[in-house]
Order: sequence, then structure tokens, then C-alpha cells
Amino acid sequence: MPAALATLGSGVATKVRNIMLTARVLRAFCYSTRPEWDNFGRLCRDGRGVPPKFLTLPDRFGAEIWDTLNGARVLDYGCGYGADVIDCLHHGINASGFDVRDFVLAAARRQAEGAGVTGPFYRPDESHGLRGAFDYILSVNCFEHYLNPAAVLRHMRWLLKPTGVVLAYFSPPWLHPYGGHVREMTPLPWVHLLFPERAVMRLRTEYYAENATCYEDAAGGLNRMTVAKFKHVIAGSPFGFRRLELLPIRGIRAVTKIAGLRELLTTAVRAELIPNDL
Ligand SMILES: C[S@@+](CC[C@H](N)C(=O)[O-])C[C@H]1O[C@@H](n2cnc3c(N)ncnc32)[C@H](O)[C@@H]1O
Repeated sequence: MPAALATLGSGVATKVRNIMLTARVLRAFCYSTRPEWDNFGRLCRDGRGVPPKFLTLPDRFGAEIWDTLNGARVLDYGCGYGADVIDCLHHGINASGFDVRDFVLAAARRQAEGAGVTGPFYRPDESHGLRGAFDYILSVNCFEHYLNPAAVLRHMRWLLKPTGVVLAYFSPPWLHPYGGHVREMTPLPWVHLLFPERAVMRLRTEYYAENATCYEDAAGGLNRMTVAKFKHVIAGSPFGFRRLELLPIRGIRAVTKIAGLRELLTTAVRAELIPNDL
């Protein structure tokens, strides 16, 4: 028994040493300065000191999005700090937000108030009366975060009118060079595929205001969503694709035609989902 314990102990020690060693190697590729976050917990500057570029709904869905949503009741599912809800409200659209994190919703309400608009921001336990209430559900940069995307899709279906549509956009998918969501920490591509998860998580704690030990706990939840997984999840859901677009890195369409590279070089996924259970 003591011998078995000693073997186990030395195995654990070797593992820890390896993780520390790989973390040290990875550190050589990380920015020397830490990213900065504001009081709401939003990123202000990455490790290069560069502020993040925030995209708007027209950037993601096209300039016609305001016409599409005009007159519709809209829910932003995973609204985060509420920027898209506020933008919709400014365009006269009947929009509301939904999120699982209380502090994010509180910040969204404060942001809306500061912007002179009021839209409801719902927590899951406040959504009971919303069955079939929405014409459109927006899901922006969330499908790679929903830890149970199948359950989310069933909930979306429950919230939508039978004629409703889900407009989804997420970036980056898991196999993208920065799919591990550690871009603020290192410019090295595919870190999440090249380095063991524990080594990446070890360094993450130094760069991000969180103590994640696995990707599922990092960045508000990362579900390793590849394009293939997304298609698979939709296939098992009460939705079908009305449209699916894989947006290539830097808009270079040719690269995504090369078999095997498509997943690696897709920067964003844009989809329109319609109920298929009628
Ligand atoms: C990367 S943020 C995107 C926020 C916002 N849509 C945006 O584009 O700025 C992902 C959001 O999804 C939320 N989220 C994660 N899982 C969720 C779930 N099961 N239901 C609702 N929201 C969820 C997180 O709390 C987080 O605010």
C-alpha cells in the first residue's frame, strides 16, 4: 500500500512538474502586460494595450437587420452587458435581454438606464411567462458559451412564436486559431490545441479575472463549439437551418474550400434557424 501511494504520489508530482514546465514554455509566448478590464468586468485593453473592437448588429447580420427586426418582438439570448438590446431600443425595436449571470444583467440594466432606454433584462427564473412571445431571438457570440446548447435550443423554441426565427452569430469557433479565447493573453495561434488545458488554465488565472481550471469554467463557459458540433447540435434540435454561413478568416473564401482547412480558418458562424417541429 505505501509503495502504491508512493508511485501515485510520484506520478502526480511528475504531472504537476510537466504542467509547470509547459506553462513556463507557454509564458514565453504571452504578452508581458496584463489585459485591463473595466468596473463592469468588460475588457478595455488586451495584452498589447489595444482596445477590443466591438461589432454592431449590422456588422454581424448586415445593414438590413434594422428593417428585419422593425415591428418585431426581439429577445437577445445571452445579452451580456446589453449593448445590442440598447442599440435595438434606440432603433425603436421592442427588444429585451436574457442572461444567466446576475451581475451581467445588473450591468446591462445600468447601461440601459445611462443610455436613456429601458428594456426588460430577464433572468432564467423571470422567463416563465414568455412562452411563444418572440418573433426573433438573437444569439450573439453565445453558441460557443452555452454549456448545454441542446437545452438552450429547446428553451429558444419555447420562447419563439411558431413563425419565429433565431439569428445566431458566434466567433471564434473552437478550431479557429483563437478558439481558446486567450487572445488577450497571447498572440500564439491554436494555443488551446498545442498546449495542455491545465497549462493554459494556469496562465489564464494570471491574465483573467477568474480561476478557471477547465475551458468549461473559462470565459463565462466555453463548450469547445466547432462548426461540426454546431451542425450536429442543430440537427438534434427543434430547429433547422434556413441559412448557414461560415465566414472565412480575413474574408478569404478560397481557403475554406480546401478540405480539412475549413474548420481551422472559419472566423465566425452566422445562421438563421427556423422551427422544424410544426
Ligand atoms: C461572450 S458573451 C456575449 C454577450 C453579448 N451577446 C455580446 O455579444 O456582447 C456570452 C454571454 O452568454 C451568456 N450565457 C452563457 N450561457 C448562457 C445560457 N445558458 N443562457 C443564457 N445566457 C448564457 C453569458 O452569461 C454571457 O453574457
